[in-house]
Amino acid sequence: MYVCICKGITDHQIRAAARNGAVSVRALNRELGVASQCSKCSRQAREVLREALLEGQADTRRLVEQPGVQQWVPQSA
Ligand code: FES
Repeated sequence: MYVCICKGITDHQIRAAARNGAVSVRALNRELGVASQCSKCSRQAREVLREALLEGQADTRRLVEQPGVQQWVPQSA
């Protein structure tokens, strides 16, 4: 689904950006150009990003809770 008509940005592109570290509409603006023209997409972009970030947290929780998956513990110098 198109989220930003002006720049032709889809929800899939926003989800991919979230997986690559975008955590704000400002980051989506820098990376994809979302909300860089009329800004009518800002609210929808924020919602798609929020959903993607929540889904990412759920995926991380499922991975950590799997038997045999060990958490990385940093070593002190
Ligand atoms: S719809 Fe995104 S800037 Fe216009």
